[in-house]
Amino acid sequence: MIKWEDKYLLGIDIIDEQHKELFRIAGEAFDLLKNEFYLDKYDHVVKIIEELKDYAVYHFKTEEEYMFKNNYKKYFSHKIIHDEFLEEVKKINLDDMDENQDEYLLSIINFVVDWIVEHILGTDKLYVSEESPA
Ligand SMILES: [Fe+2]
Repeated sequence: MIKWEDKYLLGIDIIDEQHKELFRIAGEAFDLLKNEFYLDKYDHVVKIIEELKDYAVYHFKTEEEYMFKNNYKKYFSHKIIHDEFLEEVKKINLDDMDENQDEYLLSIINFVVDWIVEHILGTDKLYVSEESPA
């Protein structure tokens, strides 16, 4: 189960909405993967994971613009963390799945969600507490 929790809130509406959307998309991929009645679901799950990757790119851009605009002193190191994650994600090749499709797709979803949770609670929360005045 992938569920948004209010402890992830940063108090910045646009960022919080996008974080919720990341959870929504990841939850959709997870629910579909777990749906035993849905035949040929793999192509669909792969499509949602692609959507999740695209949305992460879009979201990081928003977040980086926000930090840049606010002269956040850790802007560059935060951006590097985003870039490193995207590099990791880029290495995932959804075309070379073997017979363990369920396991493989689940591990990708878990990897992405675990990263997002840790990132919000650790790195993102810092720019709320350490944000320089604009
Ligand atoms: Fe971030």
